[in-house]
Amino acid sequence: SNCGYGHAHSKIILMGEHAVVYDYPAIAIPFTSVQVRVKVQANQIGRDFIQSSIYTGPLTTVPKQMENIQALVNLTRDSFQFDRKALLIKIDSDIPAGRGMGSSAAVSVALVRAICDYFNYSISDYQLHLLVNQAEAIAHESTSGLDTLITASDKPVIYRKSQKPFNFPLDLNAYLVLADSGMEGRTQQAVSRVLQLKLQQKEFVAELMESIGNFVEQAYTAIQDKNPAELGRLMTYNHYYLNQLGVSNERLDRIINASWMAGALGAKLTGGGMGGCVITLAENLNQAKVIAKAMKQAGAHKTWTLNLNKFA
Ligand code: MEV
Repeated sequence: SNCGYGHAHSKIILMGEHAVVYDYPAIAIPFTSVQVRVKVQANQIGRDFIQSSIYTGPLTTVPKQMENIQALVNLTRDSFQFDRKALLIKIDSDIPAGRGMGSSAAVSVALVRAICDYFNYSISDYQLHLLVNQAEAIAHESTSGLDTLITASDKPVIYRKSQKPFNFPLDLNAYLVLADSGMEGRTQQAVSRVLQLKLQQKEFVAELMESIGNFVEQAYTAIQDKNPAELGRLMTYNHYYLNQLGVSNERLDRIINASWMAGALGAKLTGGGMGGCVITLAENLNQAKVIAKAMKQAGAHKTWTLNLNKFA
């Protein structure tokens, strides 16, 4: 029978999360080793049906956290005036949900690609970005659009809400270790916590954001200068400021401390925070292994190692 396929990958925010919501720059890199695959077929039962690890059942009765998926299926079908035939949608994801790894955006990107593939429609990246952003606005209150942008692209990007995204080559002789804290990140709560703090302490927060924006720009320069030690320092500063914004927690800090003790060049939380993931910069593969082990001992559930010279 006729099938449509779509896939998308995870992303890592290297620097600048949260401040990016307020139009400061952020750097994100694609993380292609962790993927989402979606398969779409005609549904014999005659109604839209979804199969995934979180929920299996009719599309009309999805749980709250999948309402964006429901909206997206209908939005995609309506936007391109596809046939109203019932679809069977199988979602298979290696991206842990709610870890700031862009799982929600990646599922959306893969889903739209699969539906378009099923109807033999070749969608442009721009159309994809627009559709997915609409669905993301349902899933998360105020998003910067960074997640959807980077999951639809396979190049590192420096992004600002008000500006055109800018791809750049990343060719650094260093390794990034990503660690899942094992605790659900709470992006939406973290984003509202920052907003609350901003309403209460306007100047303090403005200064923190301003500094984060400067670190991001300096980090971009450190990348151009091929200076991992400097990038590591800036990552650590960025974490300290995120901590001031109230989006870190004890568990993340414990994992980050362990990586510093193990000799990391730098470490920070990545994504929304209050759980989720941590990233660490290591000088070489051997150090990356030592750090990964230390982070696991400090409570990390899973780690992934990424060579930063593969985006040249
Ligand atoms: C979440 O992955 C990144 C945040 O900056 C929120 C956003 O950019 O929408 C915390």
